[in-house]
This record gives sequence, structure tokens and C-alpha cells, in this order.
Amino acid sequence: MIMSKKQKLIIFDTTLRDGEQSPGASMTREEKIRIAKALERMRVDVIEAGFPIASVGDFEAVEAVANVIKDSTVCALARALEKDIDRAGEAIRGATSGRIHTFIATSPIHMKMKLRMTPEQVLEQAVKAVKQARKYSDNVEFSPEDAGRSELDFLCKVLEAVINAGARTVNIPDTVGYNVPEQFGTLIRNLIERVPNSDKAVFSVHCHNDLGLAVSNSLSAVMNGARQVECTINGLGERAGNAALEEIVMAVRTRQDIFACDTDLDTTQIVPCSRLVASITGFPVQPNKAIVGANAFAHESGIHQDGVLKSRETYEIMQAQDVGWSANRMVLGKHSGRNAFRTRLNEIGIAFNTEDELNDAFTRFKELADKKHDIYDEDLQALVTDTNLAAENERFKLVSLKVCSETGETAKASLTLWLDGEEKKSSAPGDGPVDATFKAVESIINSGTELQLYSVNAITSGTDSQGEVTVRLQKGGRIVNGQGADTDIVIASVKAYINALNKIMEPAQRAHPQL
Ligand code: KIV
Ligand code: ZN
Repeated sequence: MIMSKKQKLIIFDTTLRDGEQSPGASMTREEKIRIAKALERMRVDVIEAGFPIASVGDFEAVEAVANVIKDSTVCALARALEKDIDRAGEAIRGATSGRIHTFIATSPIHMKMKLRMTPEQVLEQAVKAVKQARKYSDNVEFSPEDAGRSELDFLCKVLEAVINAGARTVNIPDTVGYNVPEQFGTLIRNLIERVPNSDKAVFSVHCHNDLGLAVSNSLSAVMNGARQVECTINGLGERAGNAALEEIVMAVRTRQDIFACDTDLDTTQIVPCSRLVASITGFPVQPNKAIVGANAFAHESGIHQDGVLKSRETYEIMQAQDVGWSANRMVLGKHSGRNAFRTRLNEIGIAFNTEDELNDAFTRFKELADKKHDIYDEDLQALVTDTNLAAENERFKLVSLKVCSETGETAKASLTLWLDGEEKKSSAPGDGPVDATFKAVESIINSGTELQLYSVNAITSGTDSQGEVTVRLQKGGRIVNGQGADTDIVIASVKAYINALNKIMEPAQRAHPQL
């Protein structure tokens, strides 16, 4: 019997670009590099690293990602404008494999109201942009923005012209999340059938989740011939988000009886990557979220538990370990040595650039193990985040903190901060220990920031769990997220606050990209 080989479904991750367009989800260059490395480890085919024309910070982040990533293609976004394409081309110059993704809107409403251009002008500009992008890379992608509300005949004309001009991928975005699955699948099939040179390009889709249909629309498109899906970790993205990578990949993998294609992804990296993105962006994952939610594989009802114990398949269609939930999650303890520590970190995909970084993390691990009996993978992730944060926290550092909190009394915090090479002390009362601590920090730093979000998450179960805190601050239109982890949540909170302050006090790295 001859087995027919499955076609490849290309996974294009846009967490660092469209994902970052979620208000409040901005990431620093170092954070983008960490996420890009996690995506590479997962064997994502294309990583859209940013929109280089948006700001110097954006340009530098794309450039840095392009320089470190070797096994995935690194893509830069550009409007169909000469200056955007030049900037994108420059940003991916160091990439082992680089792609330019250029776009212009094709729907009547966008052309008339936003661009104030005629369809003929849009067509001409699209072709010109693709030709210019080809000067920087053979790997050019074109998107007719708001394709989901564009006229079919015009869309066919534009796609034929850009493929002739050298686009190797044509991406069909449902920019405003307006389509429904059958309609969107039919659109993809019609385009592939009607565009005369459709066999010269990969058809891709990019769906937004305004009606909660981004994943369904993307899968319907795959059933109708799309061979690239654009998606984000945890479904992060503009407004209601983009299609969730983990759901697309696991639907296709689990239903190989239905799909004619499969991805090359290492699905065991999904949960670690989801956690990393949630912790960096401060966008937590809801417990009942498919694949990566804490309850995704938890069976509560007695009937389900009984069934699963008798035969796992009675209620489980996927194995938790296959998406990276480890079966035996207790990994290390107080007596574990440096080697066991390094080995376990490698197993969960964490590597250090230098021995010093490893030593620093190991010291923190020993401190944590003194406070907490069992150390889980989640603790290791947080520890490494904390080690990275320590490296970033250059201007301000917490030296010590004392908090008094008593029933019926006003809480009071006294702390010492290291500020630009000098120790500073302060005390402040507050409405609870966290409020008092933040006020004490502010009495030294006077940052003029506005607190937009304060959230605490227990990393593992048990009262000795580390608390992971996210603090989102805003100042002059700039938004940053700070993180901190500790078994003491007041300390975790002040670490997160100081991390956010360090970021916001840096000279502005980036503006929020405007498309
Ligand atoms: O949603 C959209 O249309 C986009 C394009 C830039 C592809 O993000
Ligand atoms: Zn988008």
C-alpha cells in the first residue's frame, strides 16, 4: 500500500507583532527575544517579529530577533510604502531566513474612507510594494487587508498581480473578524480556483476573533486549501485577538482523519510557551481555555474520573503530556545539585547564555528551595524570569522591605532601595501592605506613572506556592508590564512594581504601532 504523504501546514506566529497590538501587551526587546527563542524551540515556521517602521524600538527588536533566530524564518511587517519596506528590509538583513510581509487594504470601505484611493491606485501600489520588497528578499508575503469584506473580483485581480510581481505567500486576512466559517472557507476555495497563477503561491489566512470565530474560520480555510495559518500564542492580538496557535495546531494534529495536512511543531513546547507569553504580557490564561488552560485536562466529575481511570480515551481526546503538561510535575528539591538543575532547565527548553547567569539562577533556586519543599517546572520558569528581570533592573533595586499589617491598624511599609548607585530609605502608610509598599517606593522615585493593572497568580498549588505578580504602568501614552515572583506576595509585588518602573524610566523604546 502506498501511503500518501501529508502536505505541510505552515505555522506563522504573529504574537510579537499582532499580539503586541493588544493594548497593554507591549514587550521589551529582551522579552521578544525570549519569546522568539521559545517559538523557535517549538519549531514554528515563521515568526513575525514586529513592524520596524513603527519606532526605533520596534526596528531594533526585529533586528535582534533576526540576528539570533536560526531555525525559523523571521518576518517584518511593512505597509505598501517605500519607506516601510526599506526599513523592514534593513531589519531582517541579518536573518538566516528573512521574509517581508507587505499589505494594503482592498475592501471598499478601507480604500474609500481610510486610504482615499481608487481600486486602480491600490492595485498599482500593491504591485510596486511587492517588487520593491523582492529587492531585499525572495521570500515576500502580501496581504490585502480586510480581505474578508473585499469584492471577490477585485481580490482575484490583486492577488494575480502580486503573485506575478513575486509574492510567494498571499495572506487573506479577516481583519475585523466579520466572516463565518463556511463563508470564509468558500472564499479561500474560490480564490484558489479563480486566481490563474494561484499554484505559484502559498495561500495563507489571518483571522481575528471579534465574533469568537478566528480558529473556526482558519480551520475552515485549511479544509479549503489554505496552507499557512497566522496565529498567536494564547490567541493574543488586536481587540478580541487572533486565532490561537495552540488550538489550530492541536485541532489539525488530533483530527488527522479530517485534515489533509499537518504541522512540524513540537507540541510539547506549547504549555511552556503559553506560560512565558502570559507572564511577560500580563495577560493571564483563563482556566477553561482549550489546551493551555489550567482545567483543560482536569476531570472534576466522578463519572469522568471513573471513565478516565478505566480507559483514558473515554473522556480524553489528547494527552496532557503531548502539549507540555508534565505528568510528574514535582521536579527538584532542596538537595538537588547544579547538574540536576541545569538538566531539568534544558528539558523544559531553558538555556543560559553564560555560566554566570546559570550560577545566579542556581543561587536563587537554592534560596527558593529553602522556603518551598517541592520545586515544580512552573517555579523554574518563574525563577528564570526573575533572574532575567534582575539583569534588566539596573536603575532601581529592592534592598530590603519590612511591612506591618494588623487587623484594625493602618498597614505600614519601610524599605530600602538601591537607586543609581545609592541606598535610599523610606516609609509609608497604606491601604494594606501592597499599597503601603508601592507608596513607599513612590516616595523615593516619584515616577508620575498611573497603575493600570495589578494581578497576582499562584504559580503552583499550596500555600507555599510562589505568587507571580504583574504590574502594568502607564506614563505619557507609554505602557509597560513588570513581573515579579516570590513565595511572599508582598515581595513579589514590589519586585514587579520595580521591574515596571525600570522599564518605564528607560528612554522610550517604542511607540504603539499604528497600522
Ligand atoms: O489583521 C490584519 O489585517 C493584519 C494585517 C497586517 C495582515 O494584521
Ligand atoms: Zn491582524
